[in-house]
Amino acid sequence: MDDFLSWLQGGPLTEAIRGTPYLYPVLESIHILGIALLVGPAAVFDLRLLGLGRQKLRVMTAAEHLLPLSRLGFVIAAVTGVLMFLPGASLIADRGSAPWKLGLIVIALLNILIFHRRTYRNVTAWDTDRPTPAAARIAAVISLTSWSGVTIAGRLLAYT
Ligand code: HEM
Repeated sequence: MDDFLSWLQGGPLTEAIRGTPYLYPVLESIHILGIALLVGPAAVFDLRLLGLGRQKLRVMTAAEHLLPLSRLGFVIAAVTGVLMFLPGASLIADRGSAPWKLGLIVIALLNILIFHRRTYRNVTAWDTDRPTPAAARIAAVISLTSWSGVTIAGRLLAYT
């Protein structure tokens, strides 16, 4: 593992990131914009699953407009995150918050997978002004807490 991290730190892409003035803060800024695009729409969708705006907003309409934005935000956060990881791979991988961040990302992604493969399949039964099933509400709570946790663990990466 240590060899792999050292190899990552010495690669040509890593050298380019290290050697380009202001690239790191630019990546950090784009990372934050990606997080906003991921977490904002996802949180609004989660609140709809919890019943907010039930009379006015169909679940399928919310999913159609909000989830593509969230997916794009995740891709932006993941790409910039990996690029920021490269120059300090050994140091960052050693931080106590790193396994939390990674673990919470895995939980958040598994939650999405289970929600779409199972719960969302019969969305037509609760698409309009009907109470959402318990599984959808549980998925919403897991989503809200795991993405919040990833954000907190991400910020902590700089410290511990
Ligand atoms: C998916 C792959 C991701 C990787 C590899 C990654 C990696 C990183 C790295 C290396 C840093 C810089 C740490 C430092 O300053 O030393 C960082 C910062 C951060 N990350 Fe990520 N990240 C990813 C996704 C996410 C996601 C999905 C979120 C939130 C939902 C997130 C939230 C944050 C936050 C809040 C910061 C601190 C930004 C700042 O204060 O400048 N990250 N991340």
